[in-house]
Amino acid sequence: MKFLFVISLFLTSLTLASAAPSKPAAGLHQWSKRQTNTVSKPDGRLFNINGTTQYFAGTNAWWLSYLTSDQDVDTVMSEIAATQLKVVRVWAFGSVNSIPQAGTVYFQILNSTGSYLNTGADGLARLDAVVASAETHGIQLVLPFTNNWSDLGGIPSYNAAFGDNATSWYTSAPSQAAYRSYIEAIVNRYKNSSAIFAWELCNEPRCQGCATSVITNWAANTSSYIKSLDGAHMVTLGDEGWFAPADGIGDGSYAYGGDVGVDFTANLKIDTLDYGTFHLYPDSWGYNYTWGSTWIEEHDQVGSQIGKPVVLEEYGTPFPHNHTGTEAPWQTTVVNATQVAYDSFWQFATINLTSGSQYDVNSIWYNDTEYTVLARQHAADMLAKKVA
Ligand SMILES: *[C@@H]1O[C@H](CO)[C@@H](O)[C@H](O)[C@H]1NC(C)=O
Ligand SMILES: *[C@@H]1O[C@H](CO)[C@@H](O)[C@H](O)[C@H]1NC(C)=O
Ligand SMILES: *[C@@H]1O[C@H](CO)[C@@H](O)[C@H](O)[C@H]1NC(C)=O
Ligand SMILES: *[C@@H]1O[C@H](CO)[C@@H](O)[C@H](O)[C@H]1NC(C)=O
Ligand SMILES: *[C@@H]1O[C@H](CO)[C@@H](O)[C@H](O)[C@H]1NC(C)=O
Ligand SMILES: *[C@@H]1O[C@H](CO)[C@@H](O)[C@H](O)[C@H]1NC(C)=O
Ligand SMILES: *[C@@H]1O[C@H](CO)[C@@H](O)[C@H](O)[C@H]1NC(C)=O
Ligand SMILES: *[C@@H]1O[C@H](CO)[C@@H](O)[C@H](O)[C@H]1NC(C)=O
Ligand SMILES: *[C@@H]1O[C@H](CO)[C@@H](O)[C@H](O)[C@H]1NC(C)=O
Ligand SMILES: *[C@@H]1O[C@H](CO)[C@@H](O)[C@H](O)[C@H]1NC(C)=O
Ligand SMILES: *[C@@H]1O[C@H](CO)[C@@H](O)[C@H](O)[C@H]1NC(C)=O
Repeated sequence: MKFLFVISLFLTSLTLASAAPSKPAAGLHQWSKRQTNTVSKPDGRLFNINGTTQYFAGTNAWWLSYLTSDQDVDTVMSEIAATQLKVVRVWAFGSVNSIPQAGTVYFQILNSTGSYLNTGADGLARLDAVVASAETHGIQLVLPFTNNWSDLGGIPSYNAAFGDNATSWYTSAPSQAAYRSYIEAIVNRYKNSSAIFAWELCNEPRCQGCATSVITNWAANTSSYIKSLDGAHMVTLGDEGWFAPADGIGDGSYAYGGDVGVDFTANLKIDTLDYGTFHLYPDSWGYNYTWGSTWIEEHDQVGSQIGKPVVLEEYGTPFPHNHTGTEAPWQTTVVNATQVAYDSFWQFATINLTSGSQYDVNSIWYNDTEYTVLARQHAADMLAKKVA
């Protein structure tokens, strides 16, 4: 999702002791001392979680790593677990170019001399809390390493430090070195956790006007690098699923034109990517809701041809507290007309958190009646779906 999200922090509960950022190599973490615990694996078009190959539903809560109370993180994880959602996608990135105001959560400083990890209480300790709580509640995490968009740093924060732009970033030696240094730090910190579902290259990578080979080469190189650090966990791209003309799918309109430099089919063929992702926001993209089901079926068909799982990783419509009419038909398509391995709605929201709040027009609130249909019932439908 690319819109600006509102995060309001209650500063009173924050720890102000801001640890000096350290280079990624500094210090091993508790998880690194444990046995590698790979709970989730691909199994044909589906996933096997903890010994069971099944369909399931998941959700997105990008802000979990920005909550400053461990209790709040635990509340959210317990609500997600109680819903029988198996996977949650949380931002594992947060880059700034200089040390921010005390109490601001950030994970990395990028400047002309390199990348510096913040392992302090307002840094990776927040992501540590998410990983620990996910382990406790048996939730699996998808962790993206950066963002195309400027929210929470993302590619623009690399560009500010190293003089690149939205397209040159993918092939820039200094930007890619800093990105890999961050990946190495995160993968080594958490690879022995039982809560890792997949590492994700980027939220919604785009390279406007580029040949699609730019992102395909970058995705092949980066995923291969991640596999060299951790061969046990799955790796995925995190793209929106755009097709290119070479794929021979669709009517040549925006989603099929390759204009943003993404070729879903070519990327799904990369050996070191375990499954494909696609997103669905017809209101932002200028399509109707019926087309949403077509989009789901098209990605399922490509997954079937290539023989890998595909995931409807984000979907949403801009109607606060009124998403059932627009989104339930897509869920029906997922359940009844495809082998989409899982879908995860954008996004989970809940009340009663003390250390921050988060919402956008797409949010499905835990206290709302629509949550019963779009989260609880849908999760049950996916779990009940027969594995052929
Ligand atoms: C993860 O656990 C395995 C098995 O105990 C160990 O060999 C490996 O070194 C650990 N990883 C790290 C980064 O310490
Ligand atoms: C970059 O940030 C690090 C960490 O805050 C700092 O030590 C270093 O001096 C900065 N470099 C420049 C050129 O500002
Ligand atoms: C896997 O299943 C076992 C047996 O039910 C359970 O004890 C364990 O907590 C599960 N692990 C995860 C990560 O879900
Ligand atoms: C981005 O940088 C590249 C390489 O320096 C340059 O060729 C390209 O024109 C730049 N793009 C924009 C939009 O500035
Ligand atoms: C995200 O991707 C689009 C398409 O390439 C690009 O125009 C935009 O600048 C990117 N966003 C940022 C913040 O760089
Ligand atoms: C990335 O992949 C391309 C195409 O396979 C290759 O030419 C290039 O050398 C690779 N770059 C890096 C940094 O590995
Ligand atoms: C929805 O859009 C698709 C193509 O994008 C079109 O074929 C279809 O007729 C549209 N349906 C309605 C009800 O407008
Ligand atoms: C709820 O969404 C439906 C479309 O799904 C729309 O027709 C209706 O007007 C919306 N109601 C409100 C109160 O926004
Ligand atoms: C799927 O189809 C069956 C009958 O074919 C129906 O009973 C069920 O409600 C449908 N599931 C969903 C989620 O729409
Ligand atoms: C929020 O807190 C109130 C007051 O403690 C409680 O009655 C309510 O059940 C809570 N709601 C949720 C969704 O946890
Ligand atoms: C759920 O909580 C949100 C945020 O406080 C509120 O806007 C919404 O009206 C609540 N829904 C119900 C059904 O109480």
